[in-house]
Amino acid sequence: MDKPTRRIGVLTGGGDCPGLNAVIRAVTKDAIHHGMDVLGIEDGFLGLIEDRIRPLEERDVSNILTTGGTILGSSNKANPANMAVGRDTNGNVVHKDLTEACLITLESHGIDTLVVIGGDGTMTCAAPFVERGIRAVGVPKTIDNDLWGTDMTFGHMTAVEIATEALDRVHTTAASHHRAMVVEVMGRNAGWIALSAGVASGSDVILLPEMPFDIDAVCEHVAQRSTKGKRFTIVCCSEGAYPKGGAQIVERTDPTSPDPIRLGGIAKWVSGQIEDMTGVESRHVVLGHVQRGGTPCAFDRMLATLFGDAAMELILQQKYSRLVAWQGGRITDVPMLEAADKQRLVPPDEPLIAAARSVSTCFGD
Ligand code: F6P
Repeated sequence: MDKPTRRIGVLTGGGDCPGLNAVIRAVTKDAIHHGMDVLGIEDGFLGLIEDRIRPLEERDVSNILTTGGTILGSSNKANPANMAVGRDTNGNVVHKDLTEACLITLESHGIDTLVVIGGDGTMTCAAPFVERGIRAVGVPKTIDNDLWGTDMTFGHMTAVEIATEALDRVHTTAASHHRAMVVEVMGRNAGWIALSAGVASGSDVILLPEMPFDIDAVCEHVAQRSTKGKRFTIVCCSEGAYPKGGAQIVERTDPTSPDPIRLGGIAKWVSGQIEDMTGVESRHVVLGHVQRGGTPCAFDRMLATLFGDAAMELILQQKYSRLVAWQGGRITDVPMLEAADKQRLVPPDEPLIAAARSVSTCFGD
């Protein structure tokens, strides 16, 4: 057997989400109880590149279970193996491989095991370290719930709760004004937030990236509701949804980010089409980062604590290069590198789609 872990480095990478602190707390407390040291790496892999690493004691993680965000900070731009370090004379972003420097930093702090809390992008950043023999375990986070190998990531349920509450709120104002309201939710290329919040709120139309929609079918549904005396329509629209024959709407691109595409704008387009094609007055709302902020819901606090404990269990068993996962209602683990750069999308036979159709929800297909 290898030497047991003495000093853990923990980092949170990619977009933040509710529940990150709950994982940091669980890992730190458990590690300290087992006589290990814990160092917090600030701002994800950026802290490793810039050598911003600090010890975590029990007092640092006390009272953070219910706090949103991450006490360590995060970055969705820092990929040590392909780090944007500036621009050339033509204005193109120049990238450099900083892996070796990061390995020296890890050694200088005596970190013998990494706990990497993140999504597919963060697991991709971790891959060169794992391939060079650094001991690491992964913990799956993202509001999008699109990480391969796990049925559920923490942070997702909180985002669904926030989106559902927003949809409930626009419901009453839509009914008062006899309008259509189109609410854009996050999720990148995965429609999990839109599907769950759409069903939970009883949205009349749900638009998913996995099911390109026919705008005529959407407008027909809105018009039919009017003829049946239902003088309002709620559309829950994923930011990655797009019309058949069309393309996703990109709100901005960030060439310094490993995942440069930022989606946004589809709700505005759908809302305009509804108003033009049906004459029903329409408004759109973009929920954006509201879905990522604030206190985690009870489920996410539980899942994050379970995941933190499971990560420590892997370390104690010296089972490295594994990603903690939740499958079929139980904790398990999968190969960490297989989750890198893979997305878990909503499958066509997802039971929630059938359940939504059974209550007359339109998917515009
Ligand atoms: O992956 C999480 C997520 O919130 C996506 O749902 C969204 O598309 C993206 O991150 C937004 O990224 P940023 O915080 O860089 O705007």
